[in-house]
Amino acid sequence: MAGSPSRHETGPGVTGEDIPQSSRTTGFTGWLDARLPVISAFRNEYVSFPMPRSLNALWTVGAMLTVVLVLMLLSGLALAMNYTPTAAGAFASVEAIERRLPAGWLLRSMHMTGASLFLAALYVHLFRGLYYGSYKAPREVLWLVGVALLAMVMVTAFAGYVLPWGQMSYWGADVAGKAIGAVPGVGPFMERLFLGGDQPGDTTLHHLFVLHFTLAFGVLGVVGIHVAALHVAGPGNPTGVPAKVPEQTLPFHPYFTVKDGLGLVVFAILFAGVMFFLPGLITEPENYRPANPLHTPADIEPEWYFLPFYGILQSIPSKFGGLLASVGAILVLFITPWLDTSPIRSARNRPVYRAGMVALVIAFILLGFAGKHHVEGVWLYVGQIATLYYYLHFLVLMPLVSRREKAALAHASALRTGEEA
Ligand code: HEM
Ligand code: HEM
Repeated sequence: MAGSPSRHETGPGVTGEDIPQSSRTTGFTGWLDARLPVISAFRNEYVSFPMPRSLNALWTVGAMLTVVLVLMLLSGLALAMNYTPTAAGAFASVEAIERRLPAGWLLRSMHMTGASLFLAALYVHLFRGLYYGSYKAPREVLWLVGVALLAMVMVTAFAGYVLPWGQMSYWGADVAGKAIGAVPGVGPFMERLFLGGDQPGDTTLHHLFVLHFTLAFGVLGVVGIHVAALHVAGPGNPTGVPAKVPEQTLPFHPYFTVKDGLGLVVFAILFAGVMFFLPGLITEPENYRPANPLHTPADIEPEWYFLPFYGILQSIPSKFGGLLASVGAILVLFITPWLDTSPIRSARNRPVYRAGMVALVIAFILLGFAGKHHVEGVWLYVGQIATLYYYLHFLVLMPLVSRREKAALAHASALRTGEEA
């Protein structure tokens, strides 16, 4: 009947008392918010969300990662529309993107630079977390989701590098296939499954194209879980002491939108600098030659961001041992929250752990150089010592320092109780 309220308008859940006070005042947004509280959720999580005042520049890297991910997805989609995932057509299609597609060179350059800077920002984000103890309660799940993201992005980047089907793409897939084949028992079967034959070819390219595509969008979904977990636990801070009183916090907007914005501008300048002025910094000339199964390049090496893991792989004399050690270097991050049980969070307040962190960063960089030099000559010793330290740091130093710090804290608290008595 015209003019009379519909059942929907008068039904339960839409009476004046049920509509939240915050959203009742405004017209359309209030109406929408009462039915799907996206606006109040956004306001609570991104406008008035309390952030610790003490956050330093390293807390802007998460925003950089998010923006670069979106850029990768958009440029990747545009590339995929012009790319041919076959051994016969891949290289030529990438060449056509570079030379004939309007602004295709820019698109590709953006995707390549983006991949490198994505991994660089991820390593900064990871080591920031290790330094400030961001993996400790109540942020264990946030950390675990982060490590899963790292693994997913690494696999995505590896799969992406095979797609242009240049010499490094082909021989990189060959090395990866052989490494998988080294797993005792199931190895040869898994190698055939991965390659889809005896050597890299059409099926390998199809596998990796689908993997690249789906995993990249999977990363976006998992980032959603990562950020949700962050908003439940709340951000940490460099002091390691939770910001509890309102004087120690500031609303996300405008303070942290501006701070993240500044971080993004600096990141964009770096991005444009590499993309336009130093493209050779990240591109491997050998990959501008089409894949040739009959000609092995003199120097097969992965992209720079895999070099530390490649260094570990080659430092161990056995093939399977090397594979275990390099995969283990990521797996150990999953158990980090339970290896470091010290109640002191930030390395700022943990002198021994801080020295250990400096050594870990040095070991990681040295592993990269060892990987680059194929762990030959003196690099064999450097690679082996750095691999040993990497594992010692997590499996020995973290539990030992935790035990010592817990004992020192218990001692100090006993002294205080004694003094008070
Ligand atoms: C696609 C990759 C990732 C994205 C887009 C992402 C995004 C973010 C964002 C936006 C934040 C909040 C701002 C900040 O603290 O910088 C954050 C915090 C955090 N992320 Fe990630 N992250 C990613 C990967 C990782 C990885 C690989 C790890 C660790 C292994 C990790 C661990 C953490 C932790 C522990 C925090 C909370 C730190 C704190 O406030 O104390 N994230 N991440
Ligand atoms: C996490 C996000 C992503 C990362 C880290 C990534 C990484 C990479 C890398 C390292 C390459 C090789 C570039 C080169 O040196 O030639 C590549 C190529 C490619 N990617 Fe992605 N990618 C991502 C997302 C996507 C998405 C979402 C798509 C498509 C839907 C896509 C489609 C392609 C295509 C078609 C190529 C081959 C063309 C070329 O090499 O320029 N990518 N990607």
